[in-house]
Amino acid sequence: MKKTNVCVVGSGIGSYHTECYQQLNNLPIAICDINIPKGKAHQEKFGVKKFYKNFVDMLKDPEIEAVDICTPNYLHVPMMIDALKAGKHVVCEKPMSINGTEAAKVIDVQKEANKTVLMAFCYRFRDDIMWLKKQVDNGVIGNVIYSKASLFRQHGIPGWGSWFTTKEFAGGGTLADCGVHIIDVTHWLTGLKKVKTVSGYVNDCWGKQKLCASTWGCPDFENGKFDVDDLVAGQLRYEDGTIMAFENSWAAQTDDTFDIKVIGDKGGFIWDLSKENTIKLFTMDGDTHVYSSTSIKCPHGHYNELKHFLECVDKGEQCSTTVEDGVEMMRIIDAIYKSAETCKEEEVVY
Ligand SMILES: NC(=O)c1ccc[n+]([C@@H]2O[C@H](COP(=O)([O-])OP(=O)(O)OC[C@H]3O[C@@H](n4cnc5c(N)ncnc54)[C@H](O)[C@@H]3O)[C@@H](O)[C@H]2O)c1
Repeated sequence: MKKTNVCVVGSGIGSYHTECYQQLNNLPIAICDINIPKGKAHQEKFGVKKFYKNFVDMLKDPEIEAVDICTPNYLHVPMMIDALKAGKHVVCEKPMSINGTEAAKVIDVQKEANKTVLMAFCYRFRDDIMWLKKQVDNGVIGNVIYSKASLFRQHGIPGWGSWFTTKEFAGGGTLADCGVHIIDVTHWLTGLKKVKTVSGYVNDCWGKQKLCASTWGCPDFENGKFDVDDLVAGQLRYEDGTIMAFENSWAAQTDDTFDIKVIGDKGGFIWDLSKENTIKLFTMDGDTHVYSSTSIKCPHGHYNELKHFLECVDKGEQCSTTVEDGVEMMRIIDAIYKSAETCKEEEVVY
């Protein structure tokens, strides 16, 4: 595979992307970060050739072919648009944006630019999740009739008072940060059926008391604010009448949990990341239940997703996780927040 000259923008999760590119023998050519000490430390750690402080200046560099956007959520869409217009391929971290209307602005720009874009929904690229997807697609559990995804952290509010906990910059709290992962991956595993309506509930009882801050992100307890959710629950109702339930919190006092349950009319499975990646698969032989348990050890999906991106760039193809997927997820998130406000089931506005 031909090397692609990537610039990684942002030095939080961006540093992990750089590590993955390095493992893929495709060390980025540049790092871009507005925070010079943080960005330079990122550059030096991996021995990356170039450093840019300014995103717009970086886009003028003809050697850079692709831009990997790992910045706060409100910057994703403007950066994607500028990068595509500058003729670069793009990776964009989740969530795609701060809302669906903003995200949708990228669709026409990408069509015009005709560059490869990866919406970085990394869980879809885990080896265990891809194995489960094959089981579903091969009909092993029959038609999916119900699913439920849970992700609870006890002490998981990132960067209290930073962009993470400011609605204007993040678009939301735990739902925009973590809920998007579990909703997206469950939605994908169960066949990306059209979502008709959603109902949502949110709370913010811990964050507003400055409780349950995690070590991720830079906290700003003095000047920062918290105007987002730290717990969300609800359900998506699909056009075929089936539903997906979800529950997620940055800060709930329960076991740290990360699991997905999918029930089909001929079987089902439980994927449990909180119990050493256990997969329990249930099928039926006539009226007899057949149970098997396995564990597929695998790293985060970042390595696989970035490998997929580089392969697609090399072949001049589009990635399997698209701009449209990113927009759809933002539309769903918008509807969940609206439902939490109106206390009614709300239509997803596509
Ligand atoms: N897929 C995952 O598992 C995963 C994990 C963590 C974060 N993320 C996503 O990645 C994104 C970044 O999150 P993070 O945790 O790394 O945040 P962070 O705050 O730790 O890092 C953001 C970086 O962007 C830099 N930055 C800000 N404005 C910039 C600008 N104008 N130009 C260049 N650099 C700029 C900051 O200086 C910082 O280094 C978010 O969208 C988040 O949702 C995804």
